[in-house]
Amino acid sequence: MKKRMAGIAHTLQSNLYSLVFCWRNAKGLFFANLFDILFGGLFDPVYLLVTAALFHELEIQGAFIDALKVIGIMAAMLAVRIAWSQLYNTVLKPLLSEKLQAKVQKQLFDKSVQMELERYDDPEFYDSFIMAMGNTGSFAMGAMSNLSAVIKFTFTIIAMVGVLSYVDVTAMLIIVASTVLSAVFTSRIRKISFEREQALIPTSKRASYISRVFRLREHAALLRLSGMGKVLTDDYDDNMRQAAEVEKKYGKRKFLWSMLSGLNGDSVYMSVIILVLYRVIVVGSVALSQFVIVVSANWRFREALEEFVGAVSSLPEQSMHMDKVRMFIHYQPATPAGKAVPPQFENFEMRNVSFGYGDGEDVLKDVSFRFQRGEKTALVGENGAGKSTLIKLMLGLYTPRSGAVLYNGVDIREFDPRLYRERFGVVFQDYAVYAQSVYDNVACGAAGEEARLHFAQAIEFADLRSKVEGLAHGADTVLSREFDDEGVNLSGGEQQKVAIARARFKQADIMVMDEPSSALDPLAEARIKGHVFEGDKDQTVFIISHRLSTTRDASRILVLANGRIIESGVHDELMKIDGRYAEAFLAQAKRYKSPAIGTEA
Ligand SMILES: Nc1ncnc2c1ncn2[C@@H]1O[C@H](COP(=O)(O)OP(=O)(O)OP(=O)(O)O)[C@@H](O)[C@H]1O
Ligand SMILES: [Mg+2]
Repeated sequence: MKKRMAGIAHTLQSNLYSLVFCWRNAKGLFFANLFDILFGGLFDPVYLLVTAALFHELEIQGAFIDALKVIGIMAAMLAVRIAWSQLYNTVLKPLLSEKLQAKVQKQLFDKSVQMELERYDDPEFYDSFIMAMGNTGSFAMGAMSNLSAVIKFTFTIIAMVGVLSYVDVTAMLIIVASTVLSAVFTSRIRKISFEREQALIPTSKRASYISRVFRLREHAALLRLSGMGKVLTDDYDDNMRQAAEVEKKYGKRKFLWSMLSGLNGDSVYMSVIILVLYRVIVVGSVALSQFVIVVSANWRFREALEEFVGAVSSLPEQSMHMDKVRMFIHYQPATPAGKAVPPQFENFEMRNVSFGYGDGEDVLKDVSFRFQRGEKTALVGENGAGKSTLIKLMLGLYTPRSGAVLYNGVDIREFDPRLYRERFGVVFQDYAVYAQSVYDNVACGAAGEEARLHFAQAIEFADLRSKVEGLAHGADTVLSREFDDEGVNLSGGEQQKVAIARARFKQADIMVMDEPSSALDPLAEARIKGHVFEGDKDQTVFIISHRLSTTRDASRILVLANGRIIESGVHDELMKIDGRYAEAFLAQAKRYKSPAIGTEA
């Protein structure tokens, strides 16, 4: 009982929150909705009264003109209702709710950027986030439509009770008893529906993943060339079989209660009609006009009841969705973000840093290193050594388990994360290109003469200038054909160059590059390498590369193995040590040696 009360209180609270949100962010929608609710709620009782007046005219055999007047009022009422409902449902509501929904979405976009990256590794949290993103509509409009159903139902039931107690008290009592019964059935059905939804989550998630793979362009080629399509289709079948089991289990229970609920509604409707008809024909205590009113009121009551039941039965699920949206609107990172403004870069240090993902083992173990302004540091190591992880810690995207990450000697957690990250221009290993113009892909929204200049420098730096100049719309060409016939799909290497240009565009203090040349041809790689190492002497660079010819000119090379820095120094020093670096470098160099010429590429 206590739990149920708490559940009801929670549902009310969620709905109230959504209402207040609507009031704060879309007053126009709020008022339009309120008007619709009151109008809809009052219409039926008033219309019923006017109908009663019409039959009264008939009963007292009043003047034809008086009856016509009442009919005129009824026609006018219906016309106003049609006009309002069309205006509201086809114009006002879609327009205003779309705007409100966009506002909610934008707040969530904003929050998603503030969320710690490790949150994405927590499946439960990530699911909630996806759910919130997909449910902004029901968050924005849900409480309003619930309120609408409740108010309309309240008005209708008051009118109904009024009319029926005037005509026939027994009929009224039957309807009230049936309403109570209906509430019991509904709560059962609601509970089963909710449990069914929950039980279907794992299979529907899997199904949506598989349908995404078949839908997305990036998988299209491989699906045609490998057996992956078959693996996934089999998985889909298996998944559907599991879903069918769940449907069967809950379907049986739901069928039973729905039957009872339907019988309750229909039999009450019929028994009230029979009862009142009996009073009209046999007893003669009820006039025919009153019978007509009872039938019409009974019918309206059933409609309102159905709407009400619909709203109530979707409440738990809806309030869960509302809660998710609400949770993310109010999301705050676990540790409050720092406020300090990072000064111009002087030096960076990791001191005894250890880190692992979630509850997993340490990926980085007691890592310490340091670099100064203008230094070009290279980080090398085998797959899975922890290089990309180290960069994420450097950028404050993850927090170390122990040790400290220091910028100019200050723990980076003290800085405003957004301003701190402004100090870095980054090319991630899994770089992305967006369906926006080349210019926006590189400049990320910056405009003005200076931005244009930096754009020109950035595409030059990334060996992309001739490509951009050759495009039909130059820098304004959209980098996707998904939305734009005149857009282009760039090659893998060209996309990587866009990512490099984006990192360079910021003219940030520190340039961080994670495998920036993995997709580049040797000539492009050499040109960009020249820009990185021999360009701006003041530019600080931190670069990861598996191609050791790219990193040999670095002012310091760090070798990472199994999460530890095992060697550190310039190329010649590391070659002299004859350790892991020397071994890897010689292995690569050997492949480039031509026996005929005997020189290294
Ligand atoms: N989000 C994550 N959650 C859990 N483990 C992760 C996550 N990202 C990386 N790892 C694990 O951390 C280890 C280091 O990964 P990392 O990406 O840092 O390696 P890397 O040195 O950059 O490798 P590569 O040369 O292949 O790019 C790997 O064993 C990987 O499985
Ligand atoms: Mg990596």
